[in-house]
Amino acid sequence: MKTLLLKESEIKKAADIIKQGGTVVFRTETVYGIGADATRETAVAKVFGAKNRPPVNPLIIHFDSLKTLFKKFPDVDLGTRHVLNTVKSALTVILPRPEWIPLITTGGLETVAIRVPDCKFAQKFIKKCGLPLAAPSANTSTRPSPTRWEDAHDDLNGRVDAILCGTQTQIGVESTVVKVIPLASPPCSKTFNKTDYTIQILRLGGVNSDELTKLTGIKVLYHPTKESPGTQFKHYSPKCPLLLVDDAGTIGDYSQYNDLIKEFRTKYGRFPKIKIIRKTDLGKNGIEVAKNLFSKIRDLEKDADYIVCERFPDTVEYQTINERLQKASSN
Ligand code: TXA
Ligand code: MG
Repeated sequence: MKTLLLKESEIKKAADIIKQGGTVVFRTETVYGIGADATRETAVAKVFGAKNRPPVNPLIIHFDSLKTLFKKFPDVDLGTRHVLNTVKSALTVILPRPEWIPLITTGGLETVAIRVPDCKFAQKFIKKCGLPLAAPSANTSTRPSPTRWEDAHDDLNGRVDAILCGTQTQIGVESTVVKVIPLASPPCSKTFNKTDYTIQILRLGGVNSDELTKLTGIKVLYHPTKESPGTQFKHYSPKCPLLLVDDAGTIGDYSQYNDLIKEFRTKYGRFPKIKIIRKTDLGKNGIEVAKNLFSKIRDLEKDADYIVCERFPDTVEYQTINERLQKASSN
């Protein structure tokens, strides 16, 4: 398959490919995604094929606006509705699967993940397609998510119909996947009450638990769960081993690497020659680091045998970043 490289101004050409059942990589506020008609089984099958993704790992369905989403899901409970209305960016919510979404899209689940990207271009593109787009991150399975079109191209050239080549994505890590849970059942009163619900995080992402509470006024729970199938798989792996350490010492001073070398030995059974070829600063706060994380890993893997990364402080600000690094290092 030949992959067309399109400018974002060629949006109509890209939308036509989607309408014909094809696959197009496009930018969202979080990471680049591979879009396809979420309601068409053959189109969704192409996405799984392109990514080499296990069929039990469900896809997120993207809408151009909350208005379209609420039209398609008229029965959204008051709690989820409130969360969607108050958290505008990097959010995915779980709802019961309606019949018009085929099981292949949800990996066989009776629930479905949905989101409205907070990216004007993504909204415009989905609107032009005129249908909900299933869109997983535009990497092949196990690889770091792409935040630049070139990274998606590295993984997917020849595996998707087209790539809309835009700018680097704003947030840099994927959306936070949540479930809004009523505390009483059957769900509460007819009027919305913040204390009637909790938000459970199924996958950490671009909006953290403190921000979720601040925006919604609802209590947030996070304890790693198996409810988001994707979090169980090998993920975010660079082409070379990534070692996550508390303190990498002073770069350039070989003697400070004794512990590191021991760790390498335990982990990989060999004694590497260490020559620091590049030192990369990921940023000075959680927002900057999230934005740079995957692109810097992809830059480094091009000429490194190993990547050594210092763990970030164990705070909410760096929670998603540390989780991604932990996964990237444990392969
Ligand atoms: O930011 C994002 O979410 C990006 C952009 C392109 O929108 N998309 C993305 O999709 O990260 P993907 O496929 O790489 O990750 C989707 C995650 C997986 O962990 C999957 O298991 C989870 O969402 N998920 C999807 N449907 C689910 C469901 N019904 N229940 C629980 N988790 C679900
Ligand atoms: Mg992904």
